[in-house]
Amino acid sequence: MSAAVLKIENLHVSVGGTPILKGVNLTIRQGEVHALMGPNGSGKSTLAYVLAGHPKYDVTEGTITLDGQDILELDPSERARLGMFLAFQYPVTIPGVKVADFLRHAVTNVRNPERKEGENLMPMREFRTELRETMNALNMDHDFARRYLNEGFSGGEKKRMEILQLAMLKPRFAFLDETDSGLDSDAVRVVSEGLAKLSGEHMGVLIITHHERLLEYNVPNFTHVMLAGRIVETGDAALAHELHEQGYAGVRERHPQIAAEEKVEQPVGAGA
Ligand SMILES: Nc1ncnc2c1ncn2[C@@H]1O[C@H](COP(=O)(O)OP(=O)(O)OP(=O)(O)O)[C@@H](O)[C@H]1O
Ligand SMILES: [Mg+2]
Repeated sequence: MSAAVLKIENLHVSVGGTPILKGVNLTIRQGEVHALMGPNGSGKSTLAYVLAGHPKYDVTEGTITLDGQDILELDPSERARLGMFLAFQYPVTIPGVKVADFLRHAVTNVRNPERKEGENLMPMREFRTELRETMNALNMDHDFARRYLNEGFSGGEKKRMEILQLAMLKPRFAFLDETDSGLDSDAVRVVSEGLAKLSGEHMGVLIITHHERLLEYNVPNFTHVMLAGRIVETGDAALAHELHEQGYAGVRERHPQIAAEEKVEQPVGAGA
């Protein structure tokens, strides 16, 4: 079977009438690792939210297709069934739902697309065995599965949850936005190692990160730089390294007209 292709073409996105993305083009094949970098406020998370199908973001122009199928028409759970992993696909907290319950539903949804809401879930025994093996492989404490989903989760625990979901769902494409997570170095290691173990020829990954460590473990085949809602440069892993060392001044100098469109105000407390 040939590798699946996710294609973003001329994507324009607005929030509350304000244009944020202004013509993004990006193609990701299964098995490739892409890094998306760019200064605060350039539109990286916006792209991740649009891929996830967040209703607040209006696509005003352009397309996103998976092997030619328009995915913008699909709701988040339909996208998940096509093998897209969306870091935002779970509600923030669902009272009374434990991590294991949530995963059992999510895995059933992805693996049995024909199943109707409320019909039989993946058998408990089979699910438990798979969950236990997966958590062992990721060195995760089994108690974690008994916690209530996202309730009181620290930033690092949310990221562990993401990695556990990735491991259970085995998506064809994963989009990971690390920006606002404020991960300590242990958590960065967990995510970096976890992702490196999981990605491979079957997964295309888009990593949005300001952490160099994540890209050391998951060396990008392509690095893209976003500026004021456009991808202005694409290179390899060396470009990511250069940006970590030198920041974005050089990128702005090379694209003065686009840099002039950047909002002067930076979000409060937005760290690089
Ligand atoms: N829901 C929203 N309401 C209003 N403005 C928004 C919304 N979402 C994004 N924006 C604006 O869109 C621009 C891009 O934001 P986005 O979060 O995509 O940037 P980013 O590249 O992820 O930045 P960072 O590196 O700080 O995470 C910013 O100016 C932001 O204020
Ligand atoms: Mg962001």
